[in-house]
Amino acid sequence: MVEIPERIRGALSRAATRAQQRDAGPPRTQREDLEVWAREHLRDRRLVVVSNREPYTHVRAGGGMRWVRNAGGLTVALDAVAQAIGGTWIASGSGAADRESVDASDHVACPPDRPRYTLRRLWLSDEDHALYYSGLSNSALWPLCHIVYVRPQFRLDEWERYRDVNKRFADAVIEEVGDRPALVFVQDYHLALVPRYIKERRPDLEVATFWHIPWPNPEVFRIMPWRTELLEGILANDLVGFHTRAHALNFLESVAAEIEARVDRERLAVDRAARRTWVRHFPISVPADEFALMAESRDAARGEAALREELGLDGCRVALGVDRLDYTKGIPERLEALERLFEKYPEWVGKLCFVQIGVPSRIELREYRAVLTRTRTLARRIERRFPRPGGPTVHLIVGNLDVKHLMPYYRMADLCAVTSLHDGMNLVAKEYLAASPDNEGALLLSPFTGAARELERAWIASPYDREGMADAWHAALTEPAEARRERMRALRETVLRRNIFDWAIEVLDTTQSLTLQTPAVETGGVPGQ
Ligand code: UDP
Ligand code: G6P
Repeated sequence: MVEIPERIRGALSRAATRAQQRDAGPPRTQREDLEVWAREHLRDRRLVVVSNREPYTHVRAGGGMRWVRNAGGLTVALDAVAQAIGGTWIASGSGAADRESVDASDHVACPPDRPRYTLRRLWLSDEDHALYYSGLSNSALWPLCHIVYVRPQFRLDEWERYRDVNKRFADAVIEEVGDRPALVFVQDYHLALVPRYIKERRPDLEVATFWHIPWPNPEVFRIMPWRTELLEGILANDLVGFHTRAHALNFLESVAAEIEARVDRERLAVDRAARRTWVRHFPISVPADEFALMAESRDAARGEAALREELGLDGCRVALGVDRLDYTKGIPERLEALERLFEKYPEWVGKLCFVQIGVPSRIELREYRAVLTRTRTLARRIERRFPRPGGPTVHLIVGNLDVKHLMPYYRMADLCAVTSLHDGMNLVAKEYLAASPDNEGALLLSPFTGAARELERAWIASPYDREGMADAWHAALTEPAEARRERMRALRETVLRRNIFDWAIEVLDTTQSLTLQTPAVETGGVPGQ
């Protein structure tokens, strides 16, 4: 998800409410609804979000410093939630000017231009980063959970450091909470052991984890050498959330295969050591109404016109890809399908421009650098084989664009290609739909994304089937206008009706209500003890 500039956020939200009031149909959930929910339900409980990646990073610029909002579905989605609710967010400080911008308690108010919550930065050394982040998190757990045939690497020193860093995150939570009640909302695979370390010391705190990436089936999961300890960490949660039901069921089956526990497939819960962990799925989403309004803004229209001019797009259709440069995203596969499209349907040569925005990611790892190299090679090859008179056939932008600059791309795309080999959800797919209020365009989706479970009327094509994807691309671009708009309208409706505020209320409300239903927990009754 992308940054919505703070100065237009309030106005957008109010305009979204008005726009929705004009529409027929049931009202859609807005930012204010989450604020109201939090006031009524959290009461004296503080929300504490915990993630590895921080939502805002301070960097040095021209002798001073400035801040940037980080790309990636997790941080921006949770930022919207934290802004509505307030509270504290604990994350590792990663920016060159991060230390200079915090107070003596390592706190900085966020968003920096209009504070709504407190960010507590935790400092990791270069060695922590190498072992815990690049190592165990991104060379073991990431490829373990994304089945794309990159072999996970399991190294004991990385696991030990992962454990150690997770303990430090848990210490920070306990410190921030003090003796008050809190709902602790832990994010993703970097922090699987944090719930256990929290509950060992504060069994009274409500703790939930949202796992933003897929969970593999038990056959795959069992290659993880420290799987029992990993599961025990996660089972200390009151609730664990996944994007899809399939991932939630995979998790339950992994527990059943690996741990002495009662797996209740009826209730979707695990009972162990006198405590219960609920397992649910909640497909994450985007602030869809706000995206729609931004896409309709004069700035976005001007941006699109300028871009069309710059790229020489007169009389040309546009296809778009927007991703971190990650080997799970299927970017080279997408380009190979494009090449096949030009071979098989030569009428598109000179008539179709493909724009790929690629955000550099985890570049310390060889597999990630290889994605960029391969993407560049393929882009050059397509350009050589299928040149276009007006401008480039493949326009590759390597960088992290903010929403202001991303919106014109979403607006002008006749097709958005999301071709992940395996993906938890994929928010770009939902952002593209939200940012197409005229119902023009087409979404091409890999069946291996969480989004494909919800967005069933998208064009579905496997990144492993070059031929099939080239055909789907052609079919999507040639669908008669009326059918195309009807399809987009139905897809957009799904995103508008299940936005990020619905997601947050559902996850937090379920955590609270299920925790109330949970049978009494013995003090210190932590899994594995
Ligand atoms: N994004 C961004 N700037 C860019 C490209 C992407 O802010 O130049 C955002 C994008 O809008 C989306 C997020 O990064 O919100 C990517 O989320 P997604 O779920 O698609 O994939 P992830 O990177 O989390 O695996
Ligand atoms: C995915 C993960 C997030 C992560 C994001 C960006 O969305 O689920 O946990 O923050 O990618 O990756 P990075 O390694 O830069 O945090």
